[in-house]
Amino acid sequence: MAETLYRKYRPARFKDIRGQEHVTRTLRGALMLDRVAHAYLFAGPRGTGKTTIARIFAKALNCENLKEGEPCDKCSTCQAINESRSVDIIEIDGASNRGIDEIRNIKEIARVASSQNRFKVFIIDEVHSLTKDAFNALLKTLEEPPAHVKFILATTEPHKLLPTVLSRVQRFDFKKLSLAEIIDKLKHIVRSEKISAETDIFHIIATNAEGSLRDAESSLAKLISVSGTAITLDQAKDILGFIPTDQYAKALDLILAKDQSGGIKMINDLYVSGVDLSLFTDGLINFSRKIIIAKAVDSPKESLGDEFLDDHLQYVEKIANTVESADLIKIINRLIQVRHDLKTSPIPQLPLELAIMDLAI
Ligand SMILES: Nc1ncnc2c1ncn2[C@@H]1O[C@H](COP(=O)(O)OP(=O)(O)O)[C@@H](O)[C@H]1O
Ligand SMILES: [Mg+2]
Ligand SMILES: [Zn+2]
Repeated sequence: MAETLYRKYRPARFKDIRGQEHVTRTLRGALMLDRVAHAYLFAGPRGTGKTTIARIFAKALNCENLKEGEPCDKCSTCQAINESRSVDIIEIDGASNRGIDEIRNIKEIARVASSQNRFKVFIIDEVHSLTKDAFNALLKTLEEPPAHVKFILATTEPHKLLPTVLSRVQRFDFKKLSLAEIIDKLKHIVRSEKISAETDIFHIIATNAEGSLRDAESSLAKLISVSGTAITLDQAKDILGFIPTDQYAKALDLILAKDQSGGIKMINDLYVSGVDLSLFTDGLINFSRKIIIAKAVDSPKESLGDEFLDDHLQYVEKIANTVESADLIKIINRLIQVRHDLKTSPIPQLPLELAIMDLAI
């Protein structure tokens, strides 16, 4: 199910891409004017559409009925690319094919024009993982590519790329998707699959996905595979490890009331009930940040937009009235330390217990 959902809802045309308008608009414009660069770099977080847009662009470059920069998705060329049958679209995973031989291979394939298509398109994923030699070989090809060749390089870690590469590509920075964009697509999938789900479920999935539509879609797939055609909020919370907002409010209340024993009991109760303490720490940092923002601005809902669950707002405003920003800053800094300590602590509860003892005095 996870696999089919993911494939089934991979956008086939630019118009189906959520967000990333700065990318799709520019690419379509270049296609319409026939002013396509010879190499592009798609940089940005995972699950935001880099591979998807690279494939749509490859289709558009070779489509027989291109209209306003949009591939038709019906001609034999578009279909061959959709089914990964086209020999002229070459996808290389830089993380597993890191060596110079693969890049020499690219050069060899690139040399000869295609007999069927206008362009050969190389999509090199995780390009920062290539070895130094492979990189240098790639650079040579990027310098003077044959006119019938286009490169699309993709990476989640653009800071690892050499300036020599950056200067030879047109770069697009992909953005994390907003909660609203993720929720919108999840709702679309649920409608198409004829599944019933309470509205809050979308919010929980989207918050957990941290801007990645791929992660959101696989969480939804997981829920559907467990719950079938009717997903309940309780199942969603359970499966996705959702921590209710009142738990964050309670933790802050205990710290501010300097209730060390109450705080330590709470941490241990959470641990015993199976809560992931690093998720809890992240959530508590995020919750505290919202309170600071609520104290600083007139309308937190407007400043943070869809980052604010309505459910949060009621707690945030209440605590914001009773706490000093300086105390919150201290709490947040101490919790950031906890995040690091959790990775190496022999006892999972210990870093949070120590933080409570520091903060609640
Ligand atoms: N911007 C987007 N709009 C619509 N769907 C998206 C978008 N980004 C990701 N997805 C969904 O997530 C899946 C994985 O996206 P992908 O393009 O492979 O991400 P990336 O290459 O950036 O890691 C796609 O099949 C699609 O269903
Ligand atoms: Mg990808
Ligand atoms: Zn087509």
